[in-house]
Amino acid sequence: MKIENVSVTEIAKQYGTPVYVYSLKALREAIQEIKALSPVTRYAMKACSNWRVLKEILDQGVKIDAVSVYEVQRALRVGFKPEDVCFTSDVFFNKEDVEYCLKENIPCNCGTLGMVREYGQAYQRLKTGDNGISIRINPGEGAGHSKKTNTGGPYSKHGIWYQNLDEVKSIAAEYGLKITGVHMHIGSGGDMEHLKRITGKLVDFAKEFEDLQEINFGGGLPYQYRTELPQEDLSPYKPILEERIQVLEKHFGRKIICEIEPGRRFVAGCGYLVGEVRSLNHTFDEDGKRLDYVLTNIGFCHLLRPMAYGSYHPIWFDGEDLGPEQELIVAGPVCESGDMLTQENEEPVPRKLPMPKVGNIIIVGGAGAYGMAMASNYNSQPLVAEVVIDGSTSILVRRRQNLDDILLEEKEI
Ligand SMILES: Cc1ncc(COP(=O)(O)O)c(C=O)c1O
Repeated sequence: MKIENVSVTEIAKQYGTPVYVYSLKALREAIQEIKALSPVTRYAMKACSNWRVLKEILDQGVKIDAVSVYEVQRALRVGFKPEDVCFTSDVFFNKEDVEYCLKENIPCNCGTLGMVREYGQAYQRLKTGDNGISIRINPGEGAGHSKKTNTGGPYSKHGIWYQNLDEVKSIAAEYGLKITGVHMHIGSGGDMEHLKRITGKLVDFAKEFEDLQEINFGGGLPYQYRTELPQEDLSPYKPILEERIQVLEKHFGRKIICEIEPGRRFVAGCGYLVGEVRSLNHTFDEDGKRLDYVLTNIGFCHLLRPMAYGSYHPIWFDGEDLGPEQELIVAGPVCESGDMLTQENEEPVPRKLPMPKVGNIIIVGGAGAYGMAMASNYNSQPLVAEVVIDGSTSILVRRRQNLDDILLEEKEI
């Protein structure tokens, strides 16, 4: 198997495994497809904050949505201008973070009533920065591929509840703030039908804010991980967004900026996690049925999504002498039985795959979004290397960690 023009065997030989590999061609295609939807596009960099990925996003004129001050600073280091990086802190501001944003002119998006107050207090204290803020509204319903990624409705901690808009206005007025932006992000991995409907709701809320300059419809664009199914068509979203903006421009009699901020759809498809088959095992269930395990060096410390959400990722084996297809459970090296790449609802789900041999390569697709970004040092496993492919060239963007990196600031006391 090849990623662009480079064989995975060569990648594994040159960089070792596991290794994250990103195709610039696939990334560029995704950027173009998403940029066509809205006049302003932000990349929710939480999905993958690899330097080269961010650089490509910058070069293509996309802005940034950052969810921590560390992400803000990472984006600035890559070369994004402060005014192009919006800080959507989760549910509160650290004092030093909001002060940093005011001093550095980083636009802020406030997701709770408390955050509007915290921003206002910092603005009054410092007497500097922008008095224009955006607010994140919880429209009363959400969507997502998992309950854990649904960020709207009564069971979500995110956003200012849609019935509290008068309160938000009075807090803003108390501190001399103007609400110039409204924002909504109802969840990650949702579906287009939900997005279409909910954007209409946000427009109705937006009409209540007389200083409105921009409206951000969030991320959550769908991505189809199953390669046997057609990729989700994004094109119907564009006329919907256009219609929403027309309504607002008619209402206010001036130009309103339309923004979206997907993460997953930018990067999911450009990323692969390449590993190696290390061992085979089998068991028998209560009915005497044999269960075959393929044990690889890819664990949930490298790719958390199957373990965290039961997410599906395509899997391929590569190498000489692959056997016939059979039902296989693919697992990793982490010392927990939940460490399986093929699972759903905390249960192993065998998948029909060609039987590999020890030493064959495993390739996990759809790994660009929330892959390396959610990796950890669990079991004292090093964070893996990241490599970018551009045509026939492979470039190491981040080296594999060693033990010293893992121990970092830990001292014997
Ligand atoms: C505030 C915010 N915006 C955008 C996104 C991106 O979502 P997605 O990757 O589903 O497009 C997220 C992720 O959950 C988010 O928290």
